Amino acid sequence: MAFSVSFAGRAQSLEQSDIRSVTRRVEAVDGINLGQGVCDLPTPPPIKARAQQAIAEDRSIYSHHAGIEPLRRAVLAKGQAENDLPATSPDEVVVGVGSTGCFVSAAFTLLEEGDEVVLFEPFYGYHRNILELTGATIRTVPLGGPDAPFDPGAVEDVVTPDTKVIVVNTPANPSGKVWTRAELESLLELMTAHDLMAVTDEIYEYMLYDGAEHVSLASLPGAYERTITLSGFSKAYNVTGWRLGYGVAPAPIAEKMGLMNDLLYICAPRPLQHAALAAFEELDESYVSELQADYAERRRLLCETLEDIGFDVPWPDGAYYVLADFGPLADRRAGFEDDAAACQTLVEEAGIGSVTGRSFYEDPADGRTQLRFCFAKEIPVLEQACAQLREAFG
Ligand SMILES: Cc1ncc(COP(=O)(O)O)c(C=O)c1O
Repeated sequence: MAFSVSFAGRAQSLEQSDIRSVTRRVEAVDGINLGQGVCDLPTPPPIKARAQQAIAEDRSIYSHHAGIEPLRRAVLAKGQAENDLPATSPDEVVVGVGSTGCFVSAAFTLLEEGDEVVLFEPFYGYHRNILELTGATIRTVPLGGPDAPFDPGAVEDVVTPDTKVIVVNTPANPSGKVWTRAELESLLELMTAHDLMAVTDEIYEYMLYDGAEHVSLASLPGAYERTITLSGFSKAYNVTGWRLGYGVAPAPIAEKMGLMNDLLYICAPRPLQHAALAAFEELDESYVSELQADYAERRRLLCETLEDIGFDVPWPDGAYYVLADFGPLADRRAGFEDDAAACQTLVEEAGIGSVTGRSFYEDPADGRTQLRFCFAKEIPVLEQACAQLREAFG
């Protein structure tokens, strides 16, 4: 008799995400994938050089579980200078396996069965699925796109005595919403009233448009003590595969989170921790301003194209995605019956990969007229993608 594996409940519900299967379909037609949030831009040379040096120098053994001291000090200084965090010691910094690894450590440090956690919709799927693994109950709250203001009443509606944590992603994937200071202040008021904590994901903190300002929740008076602030190197320095991120939180929280990080991963990749130091020591402000100008151009190219071919496009204020509505296009063409059909039509007719709107909502119907496109591509590749979209649907 054939052996039949009995999977744990938490593994049974895991399946290949839509994003991967679209990737395969796009590859099959030799198309351009604007689906997966993979940025294929080159890594800055000083960071690459330091990685090579660190490997040549055999910096290969485990590091301290919360990261090498110089990197924790550099992250601390950055958190103070750029994010206005009131952190004062490297003991408040945990370097982990990507911001995702830090999110896992934070979630497992704070949440367990019986707890409730608030997640805004549309959400980043990893947040949702990692939170589910903790056993906590997820309460989704609609947040809308870049121009939809945060409504504290919508959170009040789901808060119960078991609510413990709110997850805030700013700038947000997939919506491109950037939380304003006033919105974060009203969120903090609510957190204080209900004694809640926050885990923030600020991985897109440098991708900002039209003067949008990135504000870290933990910089607001009274917020730091109840917030874990997460960010990382993946997106800002084009090292998504290196798996390096970090969290900043008051020392008692950072200590537990670091121990959780130790248990799950031991440490982040050692030589790459040394390499990441170059981001702070060798790249100056012009790096970020160039990055912002380049992304603004990419955003313009893609958003204008999508608008011209009939999408309703809420231009993102931050991050590098656009969650566009194909309703107007569906009115005049076949193949756009729902998000899955639209996604397949774009692959077949334009050779373009996107992500179905359903991936970002608890109820798939909420995303049925949306597709997400990622514009973290070299400009010539993006120009080619836009040309293909215009040719097929213009
Ligand atoms: C909101 C958000 N957080 C985190 C990540 C992953 O970050 P990291 O590579 O640091 O784990 C992504 C990647 O797409 C993301 O969109």
